[in-house]
Amino acid sequence: MTRTVCSKGGNVYDDQLLVVGTGIRTTGQLTVETIACMQCAARLFYIVADPVAEEVIRRLCPDGAETLYDLYGEGKPRMQTYQEMVDRILASVRSGERTVAAFYGHPGVYAYASHESIRRARAEGFRARMLPGISAEDCLFADLGIDPSANGCQSYEATDFLLNSRSVDNSAQLILWQAGLVGDLTFRRYAYDISAMPLLLEKLSLFYPRTHPVYLYEAPTVPGCEPMIRPIMLEEILTASITATTTLYLPPARATMPDPTYLSRVRLPQG
Ligand SMILES: C[S@@+](CC[C@H](N)C(=O)[O-])C[C@H]1O[C@@H](n2cnc3c(N)ncnc32)[C@H](O)[C@@H]1O
Repeated sequence: MTRTVCSKGGNVYDDQLLVVGTGIRTTGQLTVETIACMQCAARLFYIVADPVAEEVIRRLCPDGAETLYDLYGEGKPRMQTYQEMVDRILASVRSGERTVAAFYGHPGVYAYASHESIRRARAEGFRARMLPGISAEDCLFADLGIDPSANGCQSYEATDFLLNSRSVDNSAQLILWQAGLVGDLTFRRYAYDISAMPLLLEKLSLFYPRTHPVYLYEAPTVPGCEPMIRPIMLEEILTASITATTTLYLPPARATMPDPTYLSRVRLPQG
């Protein structure tokens, strides 16, 4: 592994583009590795969800920090904004400046611009690398006290789940991201058009009873604050206030069924 020491003194990878995650609580979840990379950036692009995170980032790289948030526009398709983010990041890489792009949470989890920036940079011959961060799902496992290995765990983006054919295993856990944006592919500063929520309920009802317990989850973005964990019945997603930062968690609806075809062919300890 190639490492170099930047002019500001921190150890960083020797890549022209580094894509990093700030965690959900930037003040507590930035890794030491990510902090070092941010401090050594000539240009540090960032997209984070709260002002505290922004302040932390700007202090780490006072001369090079630059938000990408200005690319969002009310009612503008999010995919167009993501493409523009990639263009801005790539322009910096091409100019030869040591570029870091920081996304909130894990930069590779439900994030298009991060992966696409790395793909395009590598295609153009630049060294590019992603460093992991703490995602909303990581916080969910901790705050709800659940383990994805218990019955397995499925994870879908809500609009993707609605629009594509999915065979849900309702003996496993289900995590739905971006439910508060379901059916709306644009950016909205205050209120997304969630007129597709009844369709999401209709689709989920194919696999779960309408009274099935569902948890609305929001991880705190500031250390010391409590998470929002709101148990409701599935049918209540129509009236519950589900925001852009809410993640839906559905526990299993039935017990796991053993598979006799394979159970009989695996040598398990007797007794
Ligand atoms: C575009 S994705 C970004 C995910 C982010 N890259 C991560 O690693 O968590 C946005 C979705 O993440 C989830 N999310 C973001 N912030 C959250 C929070 N504070 N608590 C719970 N879920 C959150 C929500 O499902 C939201 O709609």
